[in-house]
Amino acid sequence: MNPFFFIQLADPQFGMFARWGGVSDEVIEAQLSRGFKIRKAPSITGFEDETRLFTEAISEANRLKPAFVVVCGDMVNNPVSEDERAEVLRVARKLHPNIPIHWVPGNHDAATDFVNATPESLRIYRQAFGPDYFAFQHGGASFLVLDSITIENPTPVPGEWEAQLAFVETELAAARFRGGPVIAFSHHPAFLKTPDEPNDYWNWPLERREPLLRMLRDANASAVFSGHWHRNNYSSYGEMQVVASGPVGYPLGDDPSGYRIVKVHADRVEHDYYAFGDGPAKVEL
Ligand SMILES: [Fe+2]
Repeated sequence: MNPFFFIQLADPQFGMFARWGGVSDEVIEAQLSRGFKIRKAPSITGFEDETRLFTEAISEANRLKPAFVVVCGDMVNNPVSEDERAEVLRVARKLHPNIPIHWVPGNHDAATDFVNATPESLRIYRQAFGPDYFAFQHGGASFLVLDSITIENPTPVPGEWEAQLAFVETELAAARFRGGPVIAFSHHPAFLKTPDEPNDYWNWPLERREPLLRMLRDANASAVFSGHWHRNNYSSYGEMQVVASGPVGYPLGDDPSGYRIVKVHADRVEHDYYAFGDGPAKVEL
């Protein structure tokens, strides 16, 4: 196969700058004690920062011409805000028509309470962004988009987890049959430090993490790319890279807003994270 590259984005999260603008020092301190850096900033409304940053991401894609762009969830901060959704989709339409864009559902897109999907929240998501889990292929490689919201908690959406698991099984078998690299995307990272770490807000619950990781490993998946953590994180499961990328939008750690370039070769997957304004002149494969 001929090597190619794509751009991975995460968490443009329209509305998050306004969410954290104008909060008190106590709130900032409390978040810091949990490991999240909220920047002291005046109270604002709207999403001017998010528009600027996501426009920058789309401009970089138009300049570098990746095979495709994938947005690993949290397109918006408030899943019931039609304004936020309309704005992210308006900016996305500035992407060159030859470059496909693939949406991955985030907890802020597909769960009204930011954790639990409902049949109605999934319906709204699908109507705006398309299927919440799906597969596609490019240049001899197979890609799998997961819905980690129903992986987090399948109970309120009966049948969704079972259907997704069956789909993943079928698609991974097909990918193995075709040969070539296999790469997955999910909003929540599978885990941050170790594959057996306890469940928390940031990872896949063990009960579903274990079977999914096993299936990905058995299919020789090279990597699973995520967001959600609003900063970079690099881990691995056997040979499989488990990567969380910094945000297009509001950072919660030291990594700046930016994007990841992923190069896909027959025998390896290489990637780097770039702050906006610091991208390469061109991508060498
Ligand atoms: Fe997020």
